[in-house]
Amino acid sequence: MPVYPMPPLPSADKRWKIVNGTMRRHGFARHALIETLHTVQTSFGYLDDESIRFVAKSLRVPLSQAYGVVTFYHYFSLKPPGEHTCTVCTGTACYIKGADRLVAYAERHLQIKEGDTTPDGKISLMTARCVGACGRAPVAIFDGELMGDTTAAKLQEQFERWTV
Ligand code: FES
Repeated sequence: MPVYPMPPLPSADKRWKIVNGTMRRHGFARHALIETLHTVQTSFGYLDDESIRFVAKSLRVPLSQAYGVVTFYHYFSLKPPGEHTCTVCTGTACYIKGADRLVAYAERHLQIKEGDTTPDGKISLMTARCVGACGRAPVAIFDGELMGDTTAAKLQEQFERWTV
């Protein structure tokens, strides 16, 4: 852990733990900026002012630098994704347990590609590299709530709950 005071996580949303995990893996070094912003993007589907400030403060980089990175790379989005977000973990442990089939199922069911949002703006489908719950693989996160032992049936159930 760094010796300087860390900002509190912006909320209890479990995705912040994933973001924090990325920074921790890099010893909270400044060079982790892009990868950490990338983790925010894959976990939440976009970056807002709060998340950019949190990352900049945690890594002690000037806010202008963090904004510079976000606006320079087209990969990053400042727009909110769909009303709901489903993130399927495609890290090694989850991959071994069939995460690729889950992504393919979700893409078919929602008729969108990973990284996209349904045309009605309801659901965004994201993937993440290891969300730190390998023992429960394959893992999916629905609006910040982690689900272990995910199956296509469980995905379908959740999608249906979101679209009624
Ligand atoms: S690989 Fe999916 S939680 Fe670690």
